[in-house]
Amino acid sequence: MKKYILLLQISLLTSVGLSSCQDKDKKGAAPQKEVSPAQSEEEFAYRPNFHFTPDSGWMNDPNGMFYLDGTYHLFFQHNPDDNVWGPMHWGHATSTDLITWEEQPIALEPDEHGTIFSGSAVVDHNNTSGLGEGDIPPVIAIFTYHDAEAEAAGRDDFQTQGIAYSLDKGITWTKYDQNPVLENPGIRDFRDPKVEWYEEEQKWIMSLAVQDHISFYSSPNLLEWEHESDFGQNLGGHGGVWECPDLFKMTVEETGEEKWVLLVSINPGGPNGGSATQYFIGDFDGTTFTPHESIAEIGEEHDYWIDFGKDNYAGVTWSNIPESDGRDIFIGWMSNWEYANEVPTEQWRSAMTVPRTLKLKKEGDTYRIFSSPVEELEQYYSAGVEQKEIIVEQSTQIASEDINFSKAAISFEIPNLQEQRYEFKLGNTEGEELLFGYSGKDKEFFLNRGNSGLTEFKDVFGKNVSTAPRTSDAETLKVKIVLDKTSIEIFYDRGETVMTEIFFPNEPYQTITADGEQDFIIENLQINQLKIN
Ligand code: FRU
Repeated sequence: MKKYILLLQISLLTSVGLSSCQDKDKKGAAPQKEVSPAQSEEEFAYRPNFHFTPDSGWMNDPNGMFYLDGTYHLFFQHNPDDNVWGPMHWGHATSTDLITWEEQPIALEPDEHGTIFSGSAVVDHNNTSGLGEGDIPPVIAIFTYHDAEAEAAGRDDFQTQGIAYSLDKGITWTKYDQNPVLENPGIRDFRDPKVEWYEEEQKWIMSLAVQDHISFYSSPNLLEWEHESDFGQNLGGHGGVWECPDLFKMTVEETGEEKWVLLVSINPGGPNGGSATQYFIGDFDGTTFTPHESIAEIGEEHDYWIDFGKDNYAGVTWSNIPESDGRDIFIGWMSNWEYANEVPTEQWRSAMTVPRTLKLKKEGDTYRIFSSPVEELEQYYSAGVEQKEIIVEQSTQIASEDINFSKAAISFEIPNLQEQRYEFKLGNTEGEELLFGYSGKDKEFFLNRGNSGLTEFKDVFGKNVSTAPRTSDAETLKVKIVLDKTSIEIFYDRGETVMTEIFFPNEPYQTITADGEQDFIIENLQINQLKIN
């Protein structure tokens, strides 16, 4: 069938700002390197406009996030001296709105117990640890020490848990002088403590990733820990090692019912290969996590993933969000261990996802987590495009060069979904394209970066089309997209299914086109330029 292009009238919301277009190799710390202000071509091409990246050096997992007195703290796995994974430090950044970040001096450096792997931070309001002084509550970071020398010497107990405390609200940190606080019983993968206050029994609960399961420990004071129970050895995805758990209570919005959510990252074994984060919904009684009957027997193949794209890993939630706010706010590392060390940037490597609000919903007998970009992003919305209805007849350009797709938020709806293919394409003058959409026949979303730009740095990067089953059966498909220079985050069905992936085009994408086997209608298209950078 002959294809033709229908250019559609675009109505501008305002006149401002539309013209410009603009198996990991873990090795063994060194002083911070001086890096000149970033001016290179690559810097210009690939440094995200608003997703957090370190000024220089390597970054992986988000760590120790907490909120206190108007400031959101984000720590991260950081190798300041190289652009590949190496001796881990905790880098640090702060924000007052979760969108614009300011990098701070390194918070935690390796010491005689090892390098500093992933972990969490809590505000110890009642000074249960006794580490506080005066009126300011101590902030306690709980992290894994990784002793590379002990590992090289053939020992199995080289990962232990340590703590550090801050008496100035998270700016400077002192390591506890009796570290480690939790010794290793002789298990090689014994890491990533995420700690939460369990109000009912006035105790702290630590979730720890132990090879193929999560172990829960409790403590009255963050200093002495006791094993409570284990979860998950025979449940869910086990294609790789379990890492970076997060256990927290959520309320089903519509009914007020309370459930506990356990996030578990696994690598490899993600639904589209490599690293990914699955979740379990259940109950927690201070000792044991019991999965809800709807997931009590799920195996390797399941659809409880925080994100089906290849680039959202090791994500966890902020602690100490005030009750008046009440959100569960999540951030993930926007990369994948399959290629993270090889992506084509030099000065820095990796970005975080946009922070997301998580919600728990119940449909029938099934609980699902819905994610959406935090509402603070909307404060950055400026000029854009608004279109009530677009008829897509074959290949239809739905917005033109006037949009800078390197910093934009897009939303639209497709009513009356049929068993056909709905395809969207971001394209540039080099003929590179990023394809995404929905196959009604397969009831499946897809994302294809095979011809998105640079892909050759690692075979597996552009090789497979990522897919995600659609679990919603709403007749209207709602789509929200967050675009930066090198990433797309697609939230389908109000965030019931999410796909996040990175890409490296040789020129910015300048057009977005829609295509279907049959004509279809797009409603309520809104494209907002983001006033950032
Ligand atoms: C997850 C992870 C964690 C570990 C950290 C080391 O990506 O492997 O389990 O603590 O990275 O950097």
